[in-house]
Amino acid sequence: MRDVSVSNPKPQQVPATAKIEFRDVTKTFGAGTKRMLALSGINLSIEEGQFVSILGESGCGKTTLLRIAAGLIPPSSGSVLMDDVAITRPGRDMGFVFQQSVLLEWRTVLENILLPVEIFKLDMKEHREKALEFLKMLGLSGFENHYPIQLSGGMQQRVSIARALILSPSVLLMDEPFGALDAITREQMNSELLRIWSHSRTTAVFITHDIGEAAFLSDRVVLLGSRPGCVKQIFDIPLPRPRTAEHRYDNRFVCLCRDMKQAMMA
Ligand SMILES: Nc1ncnc2c1ncn2[C@@H]1O[C@H](COP(=O)(O)OP(=O)(O)OP(=O)(O)O)[C@@H](O)[C@H]1O
Ligand SMILES: [Mg+2]
Repeated sequence: MRDVSVSNPKPQQVPATAKIEFRDVTKTFGAGTKRMLALSGINLSIEEGQFVSILGESGCGKTTLLRIAAGLIPPSSGSVLMDDVAITRPGRDMGFVFQQSVLLEWRTVLENILLPVEIFKLDMKEHREKALEFLKMLGLSGFENHYPIQLSGGMQQRVSIARALILSPSVLLMDEPFGALDAITREQMNSELLRIWSHSRTTAVFITHDIGEAAFLSDRVVLLGSRPGCVKQIFDIPLPRPRTAEHRYDNRFVCLCRDMKQAMMA
């Protein structure tokens, strides 16, 4: 566990395997009296192949941070790099899963998953087989010709994850994808996500305000402080993989959750 809760943290030393790197990122919204500093002095290095969660209370800037990393909005100052190249717009090499599933209701499950393949005019036959594999892995075999309205919330988010992964992105960004699900379904989805991630080995950045979810999924948890959003503390999660539901009762897991809760409230 490392404490980086200094007022103006210096950039961390960049490991050779840094996949995504935030360098002194600041984000301001509005102007004049309505000017609002959402993020300040964000320095963070995310290593290749890691599963990193960004944890923080509502309004602390998690979504803003992820949108900047995705190239959807620019930082006001500083930069975000992927493989040492500044991210300036969304790219094919990044998959994004939003807080609410944003499936196209007039397209079937399979057609939704294959949307990026259509947009980038890639080989449909090859990706169709891959999409069916994903559906099998996510327990959705037989639902390929259903429409989103015929699926539960959890099933829709599974389809969103398959769509985000269909082009084998090297980075998967997820913004509270399971926030709207009940506790049991959410835990099941956590396990399914880890199973599919362990096959893809993509670098994963996962936003949540749920401490247990962050600890269960991650190699590292980055705790954001509020007003303005800043990196408050980073927790390493030394639990072995593959993770199972039993890990949630592991003494180390329980202690980590307690430490994270205390740090969040401090
Ligand atoms: N487009 C925008 N225009 C103005 N202010 C914004 C905009 N987007 C975000 N903000 C402000 O920036 C701050 C951080 O918002 P953000 O959505 O990143 O928080 P969050 O941590 O994702 O919260 P939640 O957990 O509720 O989703 C908030 O105070 C919000 O009002
Ligand atoms: Mg948010």
